[in-house]
Amino acid sequence: MPTYNRADLAFERGEGARLWTADGRRFLDFGSGIATSSLGHNHPHLVRAICDQAAKVMHVSNLYRVPEAERLAARHVAASFADSVFFCNSGAEANEGMIKAMRKAMAETGRPERFRIITFEGAFHGRTLAMLAATGNPKYLEGFGPRVDGFDQVPFGNMNAVRDAIGPATAGILIEPVQGEGGVRPAELRFLRELRATCDEFGLLLGLDEVQIGMGRSGKLWAHQWAGIEPDVMSSAKGIGGGFPLGAILAKEHVAKHLKPGTHGTTYGGNPLACAAGNAVLDVILAPGFLDGVDRVARHLWRALVALKDRHPELIEDVRGAGLLLGIKLREPLVNTDAQAAAVAEGLLTVAAGMNVLRLAPPLIITEAEADEAVDLLDRALRRAKAALAPAKAAE
Ligand SMILES: Cc1ncc(COP(=O)(O)O)c(C=O)c1O
Repeated sequence: MPTYNRADLAFERGEGARLWTADGRRFLDFGSGIATSSLGHNHPHLVRAICDQAAKVMHVSNLYRVPEAERLAARHVAASFADSVFFCNSGAEANEGMIKAMRKAMAETGRPERFRIITFEGAFHGRTLAMLAATGNPKYLEGFGPRVDGFDQVPFGNMNAVRDAIGPATAGILIEPVQGEGGVRPAELRFLRELRATCDEFGLLLGLDEVQIGMGRSGKLWAHQWAGIEPDVMSSAKGIGGGFPLGAILAKEHVAKHLKPGTHGTTYGGNPLACAAGNAVLDVILAPGFLDGVDRVARHLWRALVALKDRHPELIEDVRGAGLLLGIKLREPLVNTDAQAAAVAEGLLTVAAGMNVLRLAPPLIITEAEADEAVDLLDRALRRAKAALAPAKAAE
Protein backbone atom coordinates (compact mmCIF):
# COMPACT_ATOMS: atom_id res chain seq x y z
CA MET A 1 0.00 0.00 0.00
CA PRO A 2 1.23 3.51 -0.62
CA THR A 3 1.59 4.26 3.11
CA TYR A 4 5.22 5.41 3.05
CA ASN A 5 7.27 8.02 1.23
CA ARG A 6 10.31 5.81 0.84
CA ALA A 7 13.74 7.08 -0.16
CA ASP A 8 15.13 5.25 -3.17
CA LEU A 9 17.73 3.36 -1.10
CA ALA A 10 17.83 -0.38 -0.49
CA PHE A 11 20.34 -1.67 2.03
CA GLU A 12 21.94 -5.03 1.63
CA ARG A 13 24.05 -5.30 4.76
CA GLY A 14 25.22 -3.45 7.82
CA GLU A 15 28.05 -3.48 10.31
CA GLY A 16 28.02 -1.39 13.47
CA ALA A 17 26.82 2.09 12.53
CA ARG A 18 27.37 1.50 8.79
CA LEU A 19 24.98 0.38 6.08
CA TRP A 20 25.74 -0.58 2.48
CA THR A 21 23.36 -0.57 -0.46
CA ALA A 22 23.39 -3.37 -3.02
CA ASP A 23 25.26 -1.09 -5.45
CA GLY A 24 28.01 -0.54 -2.87
CA ARG A 25 27.17 2.90 -1.49
CA ARG A 26 28.22 3.26 2.14
CA PHE A 27 26.26 5.22 4.77
CA LEU A 28 26.78 6.23 8.36
CA ASP A 29 23.50 5.34 10.05
CA PHE A 30 22.40 8.05 12.47
CA GLY A 31 18.76 7.03 12.21
CA SER A 32 18.95 3.41 13.45
CA GLY A 33 15.72 2.51 11.68
CA ILE A 34 14.01 5.27 13.71
CA ALA A 35 15.82 4.83 17.02
CA THR A 36 15.51 1.08 16.98
CA SER A 37 18.72 -0.70 15.98
CA SER A 38 20.24 0.21 19.33
CA LEU A 39 23.24 -2.12 19.00
CA GLY A 40 23.83 -1.14 15.37
CA HIS A 41 23.87 -3.69 12.59
CA ASN A 42 25.15 -7.24 12.67
CA HIS A 43 26.01 -7.09 16.36
CA PRO A 44 27.64 -10.48 16.92
CA HIS A 45 26.05 -11.14 20.32
CA LEU A 46 22.53 -10.26 19.14
CA VAL A 47 22.88 -12.16 15.87
CA ARG A 48 24.15 -15.27 17.67
CA ALA A 49 21.32 -15.14 20.23
CA ILE A 50 18.67 -14.90 17.49
CA CYS A 51 20.23 -17.66 15.37
CA ASP A 52 20.68 -20.01 18.34
CA GLN A 53 17.13 -19.45 19.55
CA ALA A 54 15.66 -19.81 16.05
CA ALA A 55 17.30 -23.23 15.81
CA LYS A 56 15.70 -24.30 19.12
CA VAL A 57 12.16 -22.93 19.17
CA MET A 58 10.74 -19.66 17.84
CA HIS A 59 7.16 -19.59 18.93
CA VAL A 60 4.91 -21.57 21.25
CA SER A 61 2.18 -19.00 22.25
CA ASN A 62 1.24 -17.81 25.70
CA LEU A 63 -0.65 -21.00 26.41
CA TYR A 64 2.64 -22.20 27.86
CA ARG A 65 5.48 -20.91 29.99
CA VAL A 66 8.21 -19.18 28.03
CA PRO A 67 11.51 -19.35 29.98
CA GLU A 68 13.21 -16.72 27.79
CA ALA A 69 10.35 -14.30 28.54
CA GLU A 70 10.41 -15.12 32.26
CA ARG A 71 14.13 -14.40 32.32
CA LEU A 72 13.79 -11.17 30.34
CA ALA A 73 10.92 -9.96 32.53
CA ALA A 74 12.84 -10.76 35.72
CA ARG A 75 15.85 -8.84 34.44
CA HIS A 76 13.74 -5.82 33.50
CA VAL A 77 12.08 -5.89 36.90
CA ALA A 78 15.47 -6.07 38.62
CA ALA A 79 16.75 -3.11 36.59
CA SER A 80 13.72 -0.80 36.87
CA PHE A 81 10.86 0.55 38.98
CA ALA A 82 8.56 -2.22 37.74
CA ASP A 83 7.20 -5.30 39.49
CA SER A 84 5.73 -6.92 36.37
CA VAL A 85 6.18 -6.95 32.61
CA PHE A 86 3.85 -7.73 29.71
CA PHE A 87 5.49 -8.38 26.33
CA CYS A 88 4.01 -7.39 23.00
CA ASN A 89 5.33 -6.50 19.56
CA SER A 90 5.35 -2.77 18.95
CA GLY A 91 5.18 0.64 20.54
CA ALA A 92 1.57 1.36 19.68
CA GLU A 93 0.56 -2.00 21.08
CA ALA A 94 2.50 -1.37 24.28
CA ASN A 95 0.77 2.00 24.67
CA GLU A 96 -2.67 0.49 24.05
CA GLY A 97 -1.97 -2.06 26.75
CA MET A 98 -0.69 0.62 29.09
CA ILE A 99 -3.90 2.65 28.72
CA LYS A 100 -5.96 -0.50 29.28
CA ALA A 101 -3.95 -1.21 32.41
CA MET A 102 -4.51 2.33 33.71
CA ARG A 103 -8.25 2.17 33.07
CA LYS A 104 -8.56 -1.31 34.55
CA ALA A 105 -6.69 -0.32 37.71
CA MET A 106 -9.17 2.52 38.18
CA ALA A 107 -12.17 0.28 37.54
CA GLU A 108 -10.95 -2.42 39.88
CA THR A 109 -10.31 0.04 42.70
CA GLY A 110 -13.86 1.36 42.70
CA ARG A 111 -13.37 4.26 40.29
CA PRO A 112 -14.74 2.96 36.95
CA GLU A 113 -15.79 6.48 35.94
CA ARG A 114 -12.11 7.45 35.76
CA PHE A 115 -11.04 6.44 32.27
CA ARG A 116 -9.72 9.63 30.68
CA ILE A 117 -6.02 10.21 30.07
CA ILE A 118 -4.29 13.57 29.79
CA THR A 119 -1.79 13.70 26.91
CA PHE A 120 0.37 16.46 25.44
CA GLU A 121 0.53 18.52 22.29
CA GLY A 122 3.34 17.34 20.03
CA ALA A 123 3.05 13.78 21.35
CA PHE A 124 3.36 10.65 19.28
CA HIS A 125 2.06 7.39 20.70
CA GLY A 126 1.43 5.28 17.58
CA ARG A 127 -1.02 4.61 14.78
CA THR A 128 -3.76 2.44 16.24
CA LEU A 129 -7.13 4.14 16.56
CA ALA A 130 -6.80 4.86 20.28
CA MET A 131 -3.16 5.94 20.01
CA LEU A 132 -4.09 8.33 17.20
CA ALA A 133 -6.52 9.93 19.65
CA ALA A 134 -3.80 10.02 22.34
CA THR A 135 -1.42 11.58 19.81
CA GLY A 136 -4.07 14.11 18.85
CA ASN A 137 -2.40 15.32 15.65
CA PRO A 138 -5.29 16.31 13.32
CA LYS A 139 -3.19 15.33 10.27
CA TYR A 140 -3.06 11.70 11.44
CA LEU A 141 -6.69 11.58 12.59
CA GLU A 142 -8.30 12.93 9.45
CA GLY A 143 -10.45 10.49 7.52
CA PHE A 144 -10.50 7.78 10.15
CA GLY A 145 -13.90 8.46 11.60
CA PRO A 146 -14.80 9.63 15.09
CA ARG A 147 -11.84 10.12 17.36
CA VAL A 148 -11.63 7.49 20.13
CA ASP A 149 -12.90 9.13 23.30
CA GLY A 150 -10.92 9.35 26.50
CA PHE A 151 -7.96 11.60 25.79
CA ASP A 152 -7.60 15.25 26.81
CA GLN A 153 -4.67 17.07 25.28
CA VAL A 154 -2.86 19.99 26.90
CA PRO A 155 0.23 22.05 25.97
CA PHE A 156 3.57 20.31 26.64
CA GLY A 157 5.25 21.55 29.80
CA ASN A 158 2.29 23.58 31.08
CA MET A 159 1.49 22.53 34.63
CA ASN A 160 -1.48 24.88 35.00
CA ALA A 161 -3.07 23.35 31.91
CA VAL A 162 -2.54 19.88 33.34
CA ARG A 163 -4.20 20.79 36.61
CA ASP A 164 -7.09 22.48 34.80
CA ALA A 165 -7.64 19.36 32.68
CA ILE A 166 -7.97 17.05 35.68
CA GLY A 167 -11.62 16.20 36.22
CA PRO A 168 -13.78 13.53 37.85
CA ALA A 169 -13.23 11.20 34.87
CA THR A 170 -9.43 11.50 34.78
CA ALA A 171 -7.52 8.27 35.30
CA GLY A 172 -4.00 9.41 34.61
CA ILE A 173 -1.39 11.22 32.57
CA LEU A 174 0.59 9.89 29.61
CA ILE A 175 3.81 11.57 28.50
CA GLU A 176 7.01 10.93 26.55
CA PRO A 177 9.87 12.17 28.76
CA VAL A 178 11.43 13.31 25.48
CA GLN A 179 9.05 13.83 22.58
CA GLY A 180 10.56 12.12 19.55
CA GLU A 181 8.42 12.40 16.42
CA GLY A 182 6.96 15.68 17.64
CA GLY A 183 10.31 17.45 17.29
CA VAL A 184 12.81 16.00 19.79
CA ARG A 185 11.56 18.04 22.73
CA PRO A 186 12.65 17.00 26.21
CA ALA A 187 10.26 17.63 29.07
CA GLU A 188 11.94 19.62 31.82
CA LEU A 189 12.93 17.31 34.67
CA ARG A 190 11.07 19.64 37.02
CA PHE A 191 7.91 19.19 34.93
CA LEU A 192 8.21 15.40 35.15
CA ARG A 193 8.58 15.67 38.93
CA GLU A 194 5.55 17.95 39.12
CA LEU A 195 3.51 15.46 37.08
CA ARG A 196 4.48 12.72 39.51
CA ALA A 197 3.49 14.89 42.47
CA THR A 198 0.21 15.88 40.82
CA CYS A 199 -0.69 12.26 40.13
CA ASP A 200 -0.02 11.47 43.79
CA GLU A 201 -2.06 14.46 44.91
CA PHE A 202 -5.12 13.52 42.83
CA GLY A 203 -4.79 9.72 43.04
CA LEU A 204 -4.01 9.44 39.32
CA LEU A 205 -1.65 7.10 37.47
CA LEU A 206 1.47 8.32 35.70
CA GLY A 207 2.15 6.49 32.44
CA LEU A 208 5.37 7.10 30.55
CA ASP A 209 5.90 6.35 26.88
CA GLU A 210 9.60 5.46 26.67
CA VAL A 211 9.26 3.72 23.32
CA GLN A 212 11.78 6.01 21.64
CA ILE A 213 13.92 7.51 24.43
CA GLY A 214 14.06 4.43 26.67
CA MET A 215 16.37 1.41 26.72
CA GLY A 216 19.58 3.36 27.18
CA ARG A 217 19.13 6.07 24.56
CA SER A 218 19.11 8.85 27.18
CA GLY A 219 22.32 7.58 28.78
CA LYS A 220 20.39 5.89 31.58
CA LEU A 221 18.37 2.73 31.05
CA TRP A 222 15.14 4.76 31.33
CA ALA A 223 14.89 8.49 30.73
CA HIS A 224 12.69 9.13 33.78
CA GLN A 225 15.63 8.14 35.97
CA TRP A 226 17.21 11.50 35.15
CA ALA A 227 14.25 13.14 36.95
CA GLY A 228 14.52 10.80 39.92
CA ILE A 229 10.88 9.76 39.59
CA GLU A 230 9.09 6.47 39.01
CA PRO A 231 6.00 6.04 36.85
CA ASP A 232 3.19 3.65 37.72
CA VAL A 233 3.36 2.12 34.27
CA MET A 234 5.56 2.55 31.20
CA SER A 235 5.76 1.39 27.60
CA SER A 236 8.85 0.29 25.71
CA ALA A 237 9.52 -0.96 22.17
CA LYS A 238 12.02 0.03 19.42
CA GLY A 239 15.45 -0.43 21.08
CA ILE A 240 14.28 -3.12 23.50
CA GLY A 241 14.67 -5.74 20.76
CA GLY A 242 17.61 -4.11 18.98
CA GLY A 243 15.75 -4.33 15.66
CA PHE A 244 13.79 -7.49 16.38
CA PRO A 245 10.10 -6.64 16.94
CA LEU A 246 9.46 -6.52 20.67
CA GLY A 247 7.45 -4.23 22.90
CA ALA A 248 6.73 -4.22 26.60
CA ILE A 249 4.57 -2.73 29.33
CA LEU A 250 6.39 -2.38 32.62
CA ALA A 251 4.22 -1.73 35.66
CA LYS A 252 4.12 -1.55 39.39
CA GLU A 253 2.13 -4.23 41.16
CA HIS A 254 -0.79 -1.93 42.03
CA VAL A 255 -1.44 -1.55 38.27
CA ALA A 256 -0.23 -4.90 36.94
CA LYS A 257 -2.27 -7.07 39.30
CA HIS A 258 -5.55 -6.01 37.67
CA LEU A 259 -4.69 -7.44 34.25
CA LYS A 260 -5.90 -10.92 35.13
CA PRO A 261 -6.17 -13.84 32.67
CA GLY A 262 -8.52 -12.93 29.84
CA THR A 263 -8.17 -9.16 30.19
CA HIS A 264 -5.30 -8.68 27.74
CA GLY A 265 -3.15 -10.74 25.41
CA THR A 266 -1.39 -11.20 22.10
CA THR A 267 -0.34 -14.27 20.16
CA TYR A 268 3.26 -13.31 19.41
CA GLY A 269 3.99 -11.24 22.50
CA GLY A 270 7.04 -12.44 24.40
CA ASN A 271 7.78 -15.38 22.16
CA PRO A 272 11.09 -17.21 22.65
CA LEU A 273 12.77 -15.64 19.62
CA ALA A 274 11.86 -12.04 20.46
CA CYS A 275 12.85 -12.55 24.08
CA ALA A 276 16.19 -14.10 23.11
CA ALA A 277 16.83 -10.88 21.19
CA GLY A 278 15.65 -8.82 24.18
CA ASN A 279 17.96 -10.71 26.54
CA ALA A 280 20.93 -10.21 24.21
CA VAL A 281 20.21 -6.47 24.03
CA LEU A 282 20.07 -6.29 27.82
CA ASP A 283 23.37 -8.21 28.11
CA VAL A 284 25.04 -5.41 26.16
CA ILE A 285 23.22 -2.42 27.63
CA LEU A 286 23.57 -3.54 31.25
CA ALA A 287 27.23 -4.49 30.88
CA PRO A 288 29.33 -2.40 33.28
CA GLY A 289 30.26 0.94 31.75
CA PHE A 290 28.04 0.70 28.66
CA LEU A 291 25.53 3.38 29.66
CA ASP A 292 28.32 5.66 30.90
CA GLY A 293 29.81 5.28 27.42
CA VAL A 294 26.47 6.29 25.84
CA ASP A 295 26.36 9.34 28.08
CA ARG A 296 29.95 10.26 27.22
CA VAL A 297 29.54 9.95 23.44
CA ALA A 298 26.20 11.78 23.64
CA ARG A 299 27.80 14.74 25.39
CA HIS A 300 30.58 14.75 22.81
CA LEU A 301 28.03 14.74 19.97
CA TRP A 302 26.05 17.50 21.67
CA ARG A 303 29.12 19.76 21.91
CA ALA A 304 29.98 19.11 18.25
CA LEU A 305 26.41 19.95 17.21
CA VAL A 306 26.44 23.19 19.18
CA ALA A 307 29.68 24.11 17.38
CA LEU A 308 27.95 23.23 14.09
CA LYS A 309 25.10 25.56 15.01
CA ASP A 310 27.62 28.33 15.67
CA ARG A 311 29.07 27.76 12.19
CA HIS A 312 25.62 27.89 10.57
CA PRO A 313 23.52 30.31 12.63
CA GLU A 314 21.47 31.22 9.54
CA LEU A 315 20.43 27.57 9.05
CA ILE A 316 20.25 26.15 12.59
CA GLU A 317 17.96 27.69 15.19
CA ASP A 318 18.53 25.25 18.02
CA VAL A 319 20.08 21.97 19.07
CA ARG A 320 17.90 19.96 21.43
CA GLY A 321 17.20 16.53 22.83
CA ALA A 322 18.74 14.20 25.34
CA GLY A 323 21.39 11.51 25.19
CA LEU A 324 21.54 10.01 21.72
CA LEU A 325 18.18 11.39 20.64
CA LEU A 326 19.18 14.79 19.35
CA GLY A 327 17.43 17.27 17.09
CA ILE A 328 18.69 20.10 14.93
CA LYS A 329 15.91 22.64 14.57
CA LEU A 330 16.37 24.27 11.20
CA ARG A 331 15.51 27.77 10.17
CA GLU A 332 13.24 28.26 7.20
CA PRO A 333 13.49 28.41 4.27
CA LEU A 334 15.63 25.31 4.92
CA VAL A 335 13.27 22.42 5.58
CA ASN A 336 14.25 19.24 7.38
CA THR A 337 13.40 16.86 4.54
CA ASP A 338 15.70 18.79 2.19
CA ALA A 339 18.48 18.73 4.79
CA GLN A 340 17.85 15.00 5.24
CA ALA A 341 18.18 14.44 1.49
CA ALA A 342 21.39 16.52 1.43
CA ALA A 343 22.75 14.35 4.27
CA VAL A 344 21.95 11.23 2.25
CA ALA A 345 23.91 12.71 -0.64
CA GLU A 346 26.87 13.05 1.75
CA GLY A 347 26.49 9.49 3.06
CA LEU A 348 24.66 10.15 6.34
CA LEU A 349 21.26 8.78 7.36
CA THR A 350 19.09 10.88 9.66
CA VAL A 351 15.35 11.09 10.36
CA ALA A 352 13.06 14.09 10.03
CA ALA A 353 10.90 15.03 13.02
CA GLY A 354 8.13 17.58 13.63
CA MET A 355 8.76 21.33 14.02
CA ASN A 356 11.30 21.33 11.16
CA VAL A 357 13.76 19.26 13.16
CA LEU A 358 16.41 16.94 11.73
CA ARG A 359 16.68 14.04 14.16
CA LEU A 360 19.82 12.11 15.04
CA ALA A 361 19.26 8.76 16.72
CA PRO A 362 22.44 6.77 16.14
CA PRO A 363 23.02 3.27 17.45
CA LEU A 364 24.10 3.35 21.09
CA ILE A 365 27.42 1.73 20.16
CA ILE A 366 28.82 4.68 18.19
CA THR A 367 32.28 6.02 18.95
CA GLU A 368 33.32 9.63 19.38
CA ALA A 369 35.10 9.36 16.02
CA GLU A 370 31.82 8.32 14.37
CA ALA A 371 30.04 11.22 16.09
CA ASP A 372 32.66 13.60 14.68
CA GLU A 373 32.33 12.04 11.25
CA ALA A 374 28.54 12.49 11.35
CA VAL A 375 28.92 16.17 12.24
CA ASP A 376 31.42 16.65 9.38
CA LEU A 377 28.93 15.06 7.01
CA LEU A 378 26.18 17.28 8.41
CA ASP A 379 28.37 20.32 7.86
CA ARG A 380 28.77 19.37 4.22
CA ALA A 381 25.08 18.54 3.92
CA LEU A 382 24.13 21.97 5.27
CA ARG A 383 26.45 23.69 2.78
CA ARG A 384 24.91 21.59 0.02
CA ALA A 385 21.37 22.40 1.15
CA LYS A 386 22.23 26.10 1.42
CA ALA A 387 23.64 26.13 -2.10
CA ALA A 388 20.42 24.53 -3.33
CA LEU A 389 18.41 27.21 -1.55
CA ALA A 390 20.27 30.09 -3.16
CA PRO A 391 19.03 29.63 -6.76
CA ALA A 392 15.51 28.99 -5.50
CA LYS A 393 15.64 32.28 -3.61
CA ALA A 394 17.04 34.12 -6.60
CA ALA A 395 14.19 32.79 -8.75
CA GLU A 396 11.52 34.20 -6.39
C1 LIG B 1 7.25 7.67 21.62
C2 LIG B 1 6.64 6.68 20.68
N1 LIG B 1 5.59 5.96 21.07
C3 LIG B 1 5.03 5.05 20.28
C4 LIG B 1 5.49 4.82 19.01
C5 LIG B 1 4.84 3.80 18.15
O1 LIG B 1 5.67 2.69 18.05
P1 LIG B 1 5.43 1.61 16.88
O2 LIG B 1 5.74 2.30 15.61
O3 LIG B 1 6.39 0.50 17.22
O4 LIG B 1 4.01 1.19 16.98
C6 LIG B 1 6.58 5.55 18.54
C7 LIG B 1 7.07 5.36 17.17
O5 LIG B 1 7.77 6.17 16.61
C8 LIG B 1 7.18 6.51 19.39
O6 LIG B 1 8.22 7.24 19.01
